[in-house]
Amino acid sequence: MRVLVAYGSKMGGTKGLAEMVGTELEANGFQVDVMPARAVADLTPYGAVILGGALYSMRWHKDARRFIRKHKQALQTNPVWLFSSGPLDDSAQKNEIPPVRFVRNVMRLTHARGHVTFGGRMPADAKGFPAGSMAKNTAGDWRNPDHVRMWAKQVAEDLHAG
Ligand SMILES: Cc1cc2nc3c(=O)[nH]c(=O)nc-3n(C[C@H](O)[C@H](O)[C@H](O)COP(=O)(O)O)c2cc1C
Repeated sequence: MRVLVAYGSKMGGTKGLAEMVGTELEANGFQVDVMPARAVADLTPYGAVILGGALYSMRWHKDARRFIRKHKQALQTNPVWLFSSGPLDDSAQKNEIPPVRFVRNVMRLTHARGHVTFGGRMPADAKGFPAGSMAKNTAGDWRNPDHVRMWAKQVAEDLHAG
């Protein structure tokens, strides 16, 4: 089975998470395409879709939101998992952080099989407003590869189970 891992990312952190998810799925026997959500034209090659979005002011990155609007129909007949990335502390490792409102609606719409929030990353050299000034206090990488691998392994097991 071919699995799509698509992402909406501005500073690259969520892209990195999508790559970690893809690597684990490959290790579990799936063919995987990891792609920016805006570059996906067609879902027909895929037997399952995983979509991740960076959180900006409690909203998913616009590429992830547009992906949902564009592929709404096809997503209703594919198994779907979602992830969000954002918290710049260890809260995502300590607690299950619920999806923001848009993502909750997407879960209903797509009958998503799961959602997780992973810790985020703020590069020390982030540019622009307000990331540049936020980086002075919050720069760091809170993505936990073990957390990501465990989640992706669970997705793989669910897919294998059908
Ligand atoms: C302006 C701004 C707003 C943010 N808002 C949120 C937020 O509402 N919730 C959250 O968990 N993280 C928030 N973050 C942290 C980002 O989600 C985090 O840096 C994430 O890893 C960025 O992903 P990306 O590198 O894929 O763009 C915010 C970051 C910036 C710069």
